[in-house]
Amino acid sequence: MDIRIFKNEQEIGVAAGQLFCEFVKEKPECVLGLATGATPVPTYNYMAAQYAEGNVSFKDITTFNLDEYCDLPKEHKNSYYSFMFENLFSKIDVNPENVNFLDGNTTDPEAESARYAEAIASKGGIDVQLLGIGRNGHIAFNEPADAFTGESFKIALTQSTIDANSIYFDDIPMPRYAMTMGIGSIMKAKKIVLIATGSSKAEAVKGMIKGEVTPQLPASILQQHDDVVIFLDEAAAALL
Ligand code: GLP
Repeated sequence: MDIRIFKNEQEIGVAAGQLFCEFVKEKPECVLGLATGATPVPTYNYMAAQYAEGNVSFKDITTFNLDEYCDLPKEHKNSYYSFMFENLFSKIDVNPENVNFLDGNTTDPEAESARYAEAIASKGGIDVQLLGIGRNGHIAFNEPADAFTGESFKIALTQSTIDANSIYFDDIPMPRYAMTMGIGSIMKAKKIVLIATGSSKAEAVKGMIKGEVTPQLPASILQQHDDVVIFLDEAAAALL
C-alpha cells in the first residue's frame, strides 16, 4: 500500500485530483471507477477546475459508479446519479452516454449485477477506481459481513451507515437498501485510490492498513491488491 499523508482534505483534493488528471491525459479513453460521499468532493472540484482552465479533457473517458440507493428515483437530489452530475459530470466534458450506474430500482438485482459486470468488462475493466471508506470500514456499500462479496448485489444497509448518511435526507427517510459493486468487482480494478479524511475514519483506517484481512472490515481486503494508493489527512492517519 502506498500511503500518503496530507495536512487536510484540500491538499488531498489537489494531490488525488492531479493523479486522476495525469492519468486521463496519458490515457484519454480510460475507464474510471467513481465514488460518492463527502470525501471525494475536493478531488472532483480539482478535476473540474483543471477542465475549466483547459488543462485536461474528459470527453473520451468512461465511468462506472460504485453504488446507488434502492427505492429512490434516479432524479431525486440524494441519488448518487444526481450527486455525480452536481459535483462532477455537469462541470466537465464527459459524454453523458459514457457514464454508468447500477440501477437501484431494478426488480432483478442478479440480472442488474450481470449487466454491470458485462458493461465493465466490455470496456476492458476499470483502470483507476476511486474509493472512500465508511466509519465501519465499508467500501462502496460492502458492509461488514461474514464473507467477502463478489460481483454487484443488493444489500441492506447497517445502522452505522444509516446514521452517517441520513443527515443528507431532509425530505424523505433514507433508503434502507442499496445496489453496490461487490468486493470482487472492486478488486478487479487495475489501480485503486482510496481517500479517508477526518477523525471519524481513523479507527477504520487503522484496521484497513494494520489489521487482519477480514470481511468484518471490508476495506482490509485492499492489503491484497498490488496497486493501491491511500490518501489520508492527519486526523484519519492519527492511529497509525
Ligand atoms: C457511503 C458510500 C461510500 C463512501 C462512504 C463514506 O455510504 N457508499 O462509497 O465512501 O459512505 O462517505 P463519506 O465520504 O461521506 O464519509
